[in-house]
Amino acid sequence: MTSPYGLEGRVAVVTGASRGIGRAVAEAFAAAGAHVCVTARDADGVRRAAEELGGVGLAGSVADPAHPRELTELALAAFGRLDVVVNNAATNEPYGPLMDADPDRWREAFTINVEAPLRLVQCAWRAWMGEHGGAVVNICTEGAGHVGPNVGAYGTTKAALLHLTRQLAGELAPKVRVNSVSPGLVRTELARFVWEHGEDELAAGLPLGRIGHPADIARAVVWLASDAAEWITGADLLVDGGTRVRTAYSADGYAVQERLRSYAPPHS
Ligand SMILES: NC(=O)c1ccc[n+]([C@@H]2O[C@H](COP(=O)([O-])OP(=O)(O)OC[C@H]3O[C@@H](n4cnc5c(N)ncnc54)[C@H](OP(=O)(O)O)[C@@H]3O)[C@@H](O)[C@H]2O)c1
Repeated sequence: MTSPYGLEGRVAVVTGASRGIGRAVAEAFAAAGAHVCVTARDADGVRRAAEELGGVGLAGSVADPAHPRELTELALAAFGRLDVVVNNAATNEPYGPLMDADPDRWREAFTINVEAPLRLVQCAWRAWMGEHGGAVVNICTEGAGHVGPNVGAYGTTKAALLHLTRQLAGELAPKVRVNSVSPGLVRTELARFVWEHGEDELAAGLPLGRIGHPADIARAVVWLASDAAEWITGADLLVDGGTRVRTAYSADGYAVQERLRSYAPPHS
């Protein structure tokens, strides 16, 4: 079947694509006929994802300054073009009150969540998109729209990524569209500590009655990157099961905030 998205033969780089949302995004691009170039730190996970999706992969951390250039080179060497960048890899550390935040770990969070997306877009722009065009989708979070207990570092980096998205959208137009998707709570490893004990209660508090699946986010990302969204740039697409509108749905407190408040991470 011909994909309605116009993505056949295009090339998408997806960071953090060995599991969770990134994996679902890479799968959705492959299903739409695109070639995928995937990354993550775990070499086995990257090899598996690349093999299963018929794409290529590069193991490494997005925090490594050389990684974005190597990734861009790999995509171009393998497929001869680079149409889409999805900045998905992220950390939610350091967890806890900001007065306890170790400055080195705070800086690392910005390196992974904000600097790495910029570096990858710079590489893609210089090597391909600046001349041929393309689309970028950054994965932010519904949580960047408000504050919450113990997630100050994460929320601040994601708010910065949201701003970076808009700034780049203006600077790179009309060649490259830059948008973001902001997920609510999704059933992945990153958020396991939130949903693992009491998913039913969390689901009951959401207007759409369940927490998210990675595929919910993937469909939004693929649509934003596709020609179907050709007149959209600088937008943030909230995919959150109604999290932001829940106060008109139920008078109960927000169970996610309670989980964040009570969670004590193991010492790392
Ligand atoms: N799950 C949620 O509820 C939720 C909500 C809002 C936003 N988000 C956002 O969605 C995105 C994906 O999160 P997820 O929930 O799918 O997480 P996940 O299941 O933990 O997957 C994260 C992926 O990123 C890779 N990764 C982590 N750090 C990396 C690094 N430094 N360099 C390269 N790859 C790295 C991981 O593989 P390795 O460990 O092998 O590197 C893995 O493939 C993130 O941007 C997150 O902030 C998630």
